[in-house]
Amino acid sequence: MVTEGSPAAAGGFVAWIEGLPVSGKTTLSRAVAERLRATGHKVEILDGDEVRRMFSPELGYSRKDREFHARRVSYVARILARNGVGVLVAMITPYETSRQAARATVGEGFTEIWLRCPIEVCRQRDTKGLYQSSARSGGPRVTGVDDPFEEPLNPDLVVDTANGTAADAARQILNHLADRKFIAPDPRP
Ligand SMILES: Nc1ncnc2c1ncn2[C@@H]1O[C@H](COP(=O)(O)OP(=O)(O)OP(=O)(O)O)[C@@H](O)[C@H]1O
Ligand SMILES: [Mg+2]
Repeated sequence: MVTEGSPAAAGGFVAWIEGLPVSGKTTLSRAVAERLRATGHKVEILDGDEVRRMFSPELGYSRKDREFHARRVSYVARILARNGVGVLVAMITPYETSRQAARATVGEGFTEIWLRCPIEVCRQRDTKGLYQSSARSGGPRVTGVDDPFEEPLNPDLVVDTANGTAADAARQILNHLADRKFIAPDPRP
């Protein structure tokens, strides 16, 4: 049921895209956003580190700080969605409690998408040299290596980003958004 004042009633939604570093969150949120904009949808991407710098410069990477940061992001996502924006959150989100809290904050109009990619594949891609720098002693802690990533218990969609192209993965996300009736189905074959 779509109630008045809900994200879905306004045409907005929140796709919470989670996964290990280099699992494809930025790549896929950009590809999905591009397609949605081309079809006239209002879209905002709230992407990991960039949002952190603006919202939570005082927070670190402890469990408590990560959960607090995710709460801030979910609240802003909810407000945007309520105003008709399709919000793509691209955040590692290593803790199940944060995912559940985001779902509860947004309510209907929320979908959780896990980009599943084994750590070995992420490490091999290592586009930003993150895994390499963590291997050096004293390097930053990296989620999945020396900081936990809890396997998502209740994702609405799991996308395998270890195999297949980014274009295919973006298409799976778009199809899912259409299945959930957040966007109109894509007429393209
Ligand atoms: N099926 C796929 N889906 C997404 N990305 C893919 C896929 N196959 C290969 N890639 C590549 O994997 C890399 C993913 O990097 P990206 O920066 O998008 O990850 P991220 O999850 O945003 O990482 P971070 O947490 O560090 O911000 C890109 O270089 C992308 O081209
Ligand atoms: Mg990224």
